[in-house]
Amino acid sequence: MSTPDIHDFIAVGLGPFNLGLACLAEPLDGLDGLFLERNEEFDWHPGMLLESATLQTPFLADLVTFADPTSSYSFLNYLKQSGRLYAFYIRESFYPLRTEYNDYCRWAARGLSSVRFGEDVVRVEYEEAEGCYAVHAVRRGERTVHRARRLVLGTGTPPHVPESCRGLGGDLLHNSAYLENKARLQAKDSIAIVGSGQSAAEIYHDLLQDIDSHGYELTWVTRSPRFFPLEYTKLTLEMTSPEYADYFHALPAPTRDRLVASQKNLYKGINTELIDGIFDLLYQKSLTGPCPTRLMTNTALTGARHEAATGTYTLDLRQEEQGRDFSLTTQGLVLATGYRQRLPEFLEPVHDRISWDEQGRFAVRRNYRVDADGGEIYVQNAELHTHGFVAPDLGMAAYRNSCILREMLGREPYTVERRIAFQDFGAPPEPLTDGQVAPA
Ligand SMILES: Cc1cc2nc3c(=O)[nH]c(=O)nc-3n(C[C@H](O)[C@H](O)[C@H](O)COP(=O)(O)OP(=O)(O)OC[C@H]3O[C@@H](n4cnc5c(N)ncnc54)[C@H](O)[C@@H]3O)c2cc1C
Ligand SMILES: NC(=O)c1ccc[n+]([C@@H]2O[C@H](COP(=O)([O-])OP(=O)(O)OC[C@H]3O[C@@H](n4cnc5c(N)ncnc54)[C@H](OP(=O)(O)O)[C@@H]3O)[C@@H](O)[C@H]2O)c1
Repeated sequence: MSTPDIHDFIAVGLGPFNLGLACLAEPLDGLDGLFLERNEEFDWHPGMLLESATLQTPFLADLVTFADPTSSYSFLNYLKQSGRLYAFYIRESFYPLRTEYNDYCRWAARGLSSVRFGEDVVRVEYEEAEGCYAVHAVRRGERTVHRARRLVLGTGTPPHVPESCRGLGGDLLHNSAYLENKARLQAKDSIAIVGSGQSAAEIYHDLLQDIDSHGYELTWVTRSPRFFPLEYTKLTLEMTSPEYADYFHALPAPTRDRLVASQKNLYKGINTELIDGIFDLLYQKSLTGPCPTRLMTNTALTGARHEAATGTYTLDLRQEEQGRDFSLTTQGLVLATGYRQRLPEFLEPVHDRISWDEQGRFAVRRNYRVDADGGEIYVQNAELHTHGFVAPDLGMAAYRNSCILREMLGREPYTVERRIAFQDFGAPPEPLTDGQVAPA
């Protein structure tokens, strides 16, 4: 039961995960949530909204469908309301365009009364007398305070810049700022891209398309041994499941850390069609003579310098298998070096109310709680080390939100699947006799 002015929960950050929670929480009686987002509107990685880029997850992984296929916030209802349902059907692809997904999320956000944009959360305190959290935010220079019994943290994973490139100077950019800097980048004589995830591949492909008209040299460097694809085979996709999360969560922490490091191709690889598209484009360009581009694998960035007078960067590189060092000079530098979790500073005053692991990370329980006691603080997409590679996956968002809602309400407003995979991830609890099949 909520007390006037004290919400049942406050969710901080409005990316797809907390937006999904807002959509699912809205029709529920007896749960009053407030969602605070620092930006003035919903905007999903705007620097990467390349015109033809699609989601890597099918449209069923929208904000609500896996929890409630009848929700009015489904992607299909968005298409219907936008008059594009038949066109989407005839297109015969499960994968929405990324710009389309962004528009869908904005449409959903517009329908919600629980969302407050332009509120940058700067401090969270616990008020013992009221038994609630005071969430301090800054809105257009003014301080605001909202109170709630519980928190849901959905502040995302900020862009990661390698140590060697921090404070370098010049106009290098992380891929998250690509589109707004694209014209400036294309005016340069040379461009280097570092990293080989999906973001790097999308930008390389985009810049390669225009290489003739702009006349730049384009270099793509990765320390990975190859431009590896995102694995998308069906029995592997079964690992995107509640029972794999159960299995993973129960493993010892060192085993989990080892697994996350070894499972890169399950969540960080490049879409296979894009890899093939890049090769085909290189082939096409090669017909009229050598294309001024170079792709280098096994090549780690070990250092970097910027020379203001010439506006160039010198990258120290090491071919790791050969153990050979060399350098590359470039005018434009794009760091497609991923996104990493960062602990929100606003939590500092409530540090002692949170449960931490030995490495100072959130000790996330299976039900997504991180508070030391009491079912008060939940996280979204901050549990890679405890729940595995599915943490950033849009396909598991509705499931996680269903679990969080169940924990907050003490009942299950949306059915939470326990088991969806055909395979078993752990040893059977009882020894199997010859020919016995484990119960499904
Ligand atoms: C380019 C790109 C494409 C991706 N495509 C896919 C895909 O197709 N399929 C898939 O499964 N995954 C995809 N991912 C991975 C992942 O699902 C997304 O990154 C997703 O956006 C994560 O959602 P989130 O809600 O955790 O965080 P975010 O989307 O990062 O949102 C966090 C929000 O919190 C706000 N915030 C942060 N701090 C505060 C504060 N102090 N106060 C108020 N607000 C705050 C931020 O402004 C932001 O809006 C993609 C990732 C990237 C980078
Ligand atoms: N269209 C889409 O749907 C779309 C578009 C973009 C991104 N995404 C998703 O968003 C997530 C993030 O993708 P991303 O490509 O931005 O990041 P990513 O997959 O994490 O890739 C980051 C790349 O940077 C490299 N790197 C990191 N630190 C480095 C350093 N210090 N020196 C040199 N290289 C370094 C990594 O190499 P190592 O592997 O060696 O660490 C990796 O090649 C993924 O889940 C991806 O699938 C989806």
